[in-house]
Amino acid sequence: MTAQNTNSAMPQQLDAEGRLRHLITLEGLPRALIERLLNRAQQFIRPLGAPPPRSSALAGVTVANLFGEASTRTRGSFELAARRLGADIINLEVHLSSRSKGETILDTVYTLQSMHIDVLVMREAESGVPGYVARHVAPHVSVLSAGESHLSHPTQGLLDALTIRQCKGGFQKLAVAIVGDIAHSRVARSAFHALQALGIGALRLVAPPGLMPAPEEFPACERVHSLEQGIRGVDVIMMLRIQKERISGPAVPDGASYFREFGLTRERLRYAKPEAIVMHPGPMNRGVEIDSEVADGPQSVIQRQVTNGVAVRMAVLEAVTEGLRRDWNRA
Ligand code: NCD
Repeated sequence: MTAQNTNSAMPQQLDAEGRLRHLITLEGLPRALIERLLNRAQQFIRPLGAPPPRSSALAGVTVANLFGEASTRTRGSFELAARRLGADIINLEVHLSSRSKGETILDTVYTLQSMHIDVLVMREAESGVPGYVARHVAPHVSVLSAGESHLSHPTQGLLDALTIRQCKGGFQKLAVAIVGDIAHSRVARSAFHALQALGIGALRLVAPPGLMPAPEEFPACERVHSLEQGIRGVDVIMMLRIQKERISGPAVPDGASYFREFGLTRERLRYAKPEAIVMHPGPMNRGVEIDSEVADGPQSVIQRQVTNGVAVRMAVLEAVTEGLRRDWNRA
């Protein structure tokens, strides 16, 4: 499988009636749809310690998790989300599946389809693959990206937006700083798409020159090369890990010197608004992009992001299987 034969044409993410069919990217999704998903996700939030919400909304639906890259939060929360809605689920590690024996992605997908899979959740290191699969699946099957190369991580963008909305009440008046390896981050791209659609006040990109993305990828964002300047007066700080797996050799910054310049410490956090929140999608590299005092401190909402991840994935799974259930009822 190469990028050439996946071709980058984006599949239709919405069906003829405007309902979500696939979720590959947040780019171009209508604001009203994003808000509906956030509102629905909010209904799935319970205090920790209380029983999690459950329903049989996905009874009879089968979800396959097909992960070609490491994952803790995304994979675990897609699985829990599917189970809590009553779906059947199978988890496949790409490196242990027949793709490691030379099977093409489409042969793997058609194999899963033959087992009555209705939703395919996939994480892929290669650009274009989730969209390519979405263009080839059977009409009743939905494809949900759980992270595509450096390009897109739509459910992460939604859970980040939900977290900001819960903590700050809205988006219009907010200044958000995204800090770190933005050039290689799908989390940053999906946050940008979500926050732009939701009408964010100001978005600032804070990174050393080598980790700053091209301006055309993040239009209308301020670009700052100093952490202190970049987070000055902001309401939200979104920290990112250096995506070593996507950078070759000497271009990878050394952890200790990166921390000296771009690590978020308690002292530096004072440049932001006193009530600013600190986010991180995980996995964190403590002592590289973030100090433990901040990660575990009172302004951190990192654990809340994880909780919101399950709720958002429940909302997305429910949304893409709505049409499926309607067709079953008609049959
Ligand atoms: C992120 C990812 O995989 O893109 N993790 C996640 O899904 N929570 C961020 C990262 O790996 O740095």
